[in-house]
Amino acid sequence: MRELAVKPTKVIEIDPSSPKTEYILEAARVIKEGGLVIFPTETVYGLGADALNSLAVRKIFYVKNRPLDNPLIVHISNLDQLEILSSDLSEDVCRLAEKFWPGPLTVIIRKSEKVPDEVSAGLETIAVRMPAHPVALKLIELSETPIAAPSANPAGRPSPTSGEHVKRDMMGKVDVIIDSGETLFGVESTIIDMTRNLPVLLRPGALPVEEVQRMLNKEIIIPESARGLIEASEAIAPGMKYRHYAPSKPLHVVETRDYGNLERYSLEVFKHVKGLIDKGVKVVLLSTVETTQYYRGVKTLNLGSRKNLFEVARNLYKLLREIDELDIDIAVSEGFEEKGLGLTIMNRLRKASGYNIITIN
Ligand code: TXA
Ligand code: MG
Repeated sequence: MRELAVKPTKVIEIDPSSPKTEYILEAARVIKEGGLVIFPTETVYGLGADALNSLAVRKIFYVKNRPLDNPLIVHISNLDQLEILSSDLSEDVCRLAEKFWPGPLTVIIRKSEKVPDEVSAGLETIAVRMPAHPVALKLIELSETPIAAPSANPAGRPSPTSGEHVKRDMMGKVDVIIDSGETLFGVESTIIDMTRNLPVLLRPGALPVEEVQRMLNKEIIIPESARGLIEASEAIAPGMKYRHYAPSKPLHVVETRDYGNLERYSLEVFKHVKGLIDKGVKVVLLSTVETTQYYRGVKTLNLGSRKNLFEVARNLYKLLREIDELDIDIAVSEGFEEKGLGLTIMNRLRKASGYNIITIN
């Protein structure tokens, strides 16, 4: 694979509040020439290439070590690009685009012939979104092409939510890294398949599915795989059958059907952790502002407040990465009610745990 070797990585720091066009222009030139650029979005960092250049797109799979049957999301900066990518746009898709773009919603639609097979992994459909990040939008605009970009992590690992994360994972593997600090949401976009009779949630994300439901005024199918309880079948969401977001240490998720009585729940979590500690296992517990008081003597990491799931979602990947740095054997995480961003958080935690789920009554 010598032809895929890349040049030394250039890191460009860009302040997202006043992005300098000349710096972004340099990265855009790399995209135009078929190179790879890691760039910030409002969700997580993406590893981008010209979506209409199949050779450039192939490099993404190589660098991420991504299975070739896992299709990519195409990022656009204006609606004319949507028409290049798809030839039959439904009224519902147009309404979603108008309401939620730019923003963390990805729609699956039928693809046009202009989209190389590498992007869609041979499917007839394509995933598209318009990111709400000034640097991402400017990069796409100056590149004068849609940009295909998965999250910029090596396959299977937690997505990068800061410039530090991408530099650690990807130096020497891509042409350019744009470092714009921490991303806003810290979890990926919500993916909705709009090619079926009823919309299907393929991946809960930064935009709560309830908001999409309210807007469309239509039922949205939420399969078990979107809850992170089982792998998606190949037919529903090709990429989602792979293990994702995982720290290299084992992770347990302790869940309950009722988070109403937090004191009772926390005591059960404590029992599980104590059981491990008594066996000589070194444990770290991912807990919340409301529950940490119940875990005296246990090493904890703070996910944030249960009253602010935006904060919990935003902290999640950072903490999953931190687990690997700590002198512990096993991490245990609390669970959350599957409402709003709670569904997104549970999807990620369950998958990161490799379905190591303990449910208490
Ligand atoms: O927030 C995000 O969505 C980030 C930023 C960079 O935009 N991107 C991201 O991409 O999370 P990635 O590749 O990590 O996740 C994309 C998911 C994959 O699981 C893939 O299987 C699914 O989208 N996907 C892409 N095209 C699809 C298609 N045609 N049908 C079904 N699923 C598709
Ligand atoms: Mg990913």
